[in-house]
Amino acid sequence: MRGSGGPILLLDSGVGGLSILGAVRKRLPAAPIAYCADTAGFPYGTKTEAEISARVSGLLGRLAERLRPRLIVIACNTASTIALAHVRGVLGDVPIVGTVPAIKPAAETSRSRVIGVLGTPATVRQPYVDDLALRFAADCRILRHGAPALVEAAEAKLRGRPVDGAVLAAALDGLRVQTDGHLMDTVVLACTHFPLLRPELEEAAARPGIGRPLAFLDGAAGIARRVAQLLEGARWPQRPPPGRIVATGPLEALATLRAALHGFGITRMESL
Ligand code: DGL
Repeated sequence: MRGSGGPILLLDSGVGGLSILGAVRKRLPAAPIAYCADTAGFPYGTKTEAEISARVSGLLGRLAERLRPRLIVIACNTASTIALAHVRGVLGDVPIVGTVPAIKPAAETSRSRVIGVLGTPATVRQPYVDDLALRFAADCRILRHGAPALVEAAEAKLRGRPVDGAVLAAALDGLRVQTDGHLMDTVVLACTHFPLLRPELEEAAARPGIGRPLAFLDGAAGIARRVAQLLEGARWPQRPPPGRIVATGPLEALATLRAALHGFGITRMESL
């Protein structure tokens, strides 16, 4: 099912994977792109492990058959921390890059050794996160908080709607109220929707009297680097075709996203 001339396929439940697409396009501007938004399955972060795993592997199987991608990026922490190994087993011949919380780089830079992991409720409870913490941040206190309202806020922002400051503050407070939370200096944005709110989160974190300044980290640049490495030597078209979005839900729901999608080079819309 691997296509040597096929697109790079990115998958997320909604717009979150665009934060990864931005980094991939910077590295590989000539690569053909197909972006799947599983809008019919949105949101992933409040579903069970079994639901997410079945949905993501079934969907990627169908997409691989239809689009013949040369590489797949699961541009979603929830799907990756739950289903990456399973999907790799099912789609053996297509390279698959997952998105997992950037705990390793956070542990390399945190001075206070107290790190927050902000993700979806499903991501923050995964053993995958325990394992990353144990392997790369054994001397750090890792605080976790699931913030599904931030996912909705990112979806709203890209549709041109205002972001509610109270939602941002509540997400940060969810980490800060935990033991040693006042010492936290680094927050891992462990959901691909959240880097889309980086300026708003930075502003919320800088409110006077709120405590230490926070550094926000995500894995997008590392993922783009890995994609470029795996595709080294690939031949790209002289003029890359327009980026396309494949949605699992009604296309009308994407109408208000048109401007944001154009900003990421996506000008064609189709349904699965
Ligand atoms: N963007 C996704 C992630 O990285 C999931 C958002 C959702 O559907 O809940 O976890």
